[in-house]
Amino acid sequence: MKISILFDWFLLLPLIVFFVAPRNVQGFTGTYGINYGRLANNIPSPEKVVVMLKAAKIRNVRIYDADHNVLKAFKGTGFELVVNVPNELVKDMSANGDNAMNWVKENVVAFLPDTPIRGITVGNEILGGSDQELQGALLGAVKNIYNAVGQLHLANLIQISTAHSQVVFVNSFPPSSCVFKESSFQYMKPLLQFFSHIGSPFYINVYPFLAYLSDPENINLNYTLFEPNLGIHDANTKLYYDNMFEAQIDAAYAALDAAGFGKMAVIVSETGWASRGDENEAVATAQNARTYNYNLRKRLALHKGTPLRPKIPVRAYIFALFNENLKPGPTSERNFGLFKPDGSISYNVGFPALKSSASTSSLSLKVQSWDRGFIQH
Ligand SMILES: *[C@@H]1O[C@H](CO)[C@@H](O)[C@H](O)[C@H]1NC(C)=O
Repeated sequence: MKISILFDWFLLLPLIVFFVAPRNVQGFTGTYGINYGRLANNIPSPEKVVVMLKAAKIRNVRIYDADHNVLKAFKGTGFELVVNVPNELVKDMSANGDNAMNWVKENVVAFLPDTPIRGITVGNEILGGSDQELQGALLGAVKNIYNAVGQLHLANLIQISTAHSQVVFVNSFPPSSCVFKESSFQYMKPLLQFFSHIGSPFYINVYPFLAYLSDPENINLNYTLFEPNLGIHDANTKLYYDNMFEAQIDAAYAALDAAGFGKMAVIVSETGWASRGDENEAVATAQNARTYNYNLRKRLALHKGTPLRPKIPVRAYIFALFNENLKPGPTSERNFGLFKPDGSISYNVGFPALKSSASTSSLSLKVQSWDRGFIQH
């Protein structure tokens, strides 16, 4: 979208909000996006990241906070950016509408319209976690952020959502049997009711990598990597799956359907494959990470739906832009990055205009075809 058009539209927003209900606001209009995590002390500056993303023609970006240096660097880029209310702030946002209003003013409104913020996620992977109070606070925080955005006449520009991990499900095999876990459903149900009311999709973090690690004896590695395999047949739906990524998305659709929200769209907020791991994470190799990310990129470029929802194109944000050396946990956690700290790519996943050579920094590459706009991923 051209900035000038965007700006005019922005001025008209108060009028539009007055006449139409805030439905179909989209935080993600492509199919291939990326998560820009920054828990690292060796990654390039946000300004350099902008150059990299332009060269790779990636315009859908999620961040895990609303860092002002990042928001400044994204000024005038035309990216579609999603910012996040970090988990630590969710209880405050829930407790008081003024807190939510102040947060939105300081972290979103202050940067509009030059920085194209199109979505706010409230917390990450809160449901199914150990903090009951935080789970209880999530809906209130979502509502307060939504109300603040509405009062500021931005409801038709900015989508409100939250991202879940797969622990909210009981099981996902076969996909049609998937349901929400009883323990988190008391929080999940009102949240789904609210999101369905405001037209927001269901964001889920999907990791065939982790599924494989949890059951290597029964899962074919090729099935998780989009490589040749026999696939699985879902006896209930008679649908066939040749990769786990799509099966996991359809499992989320099945759980939503069973809960009475069959019309809600599913968007993948994170997916990826680690290129290094601990001894018990032997499939975390550069080769497998490359295969997963390469095949995933090709799959998303098809703009196709899943077996259960053939008309809803699969959209996913890749995890992640960089390896993050300050993340805790197993070695794999620090090795999900597509790009090296110097800006060169870790392995070739077919980005245009980028070489995988470790010695050539992509940061010095001229941004090709920028004037012609983005390739629709
Ligand atoms: C997995 O896929 C590769 C091609 O990438 C193929 O050579 C191999 O035979 C497959 N393995 C299985 C067990 O299907």
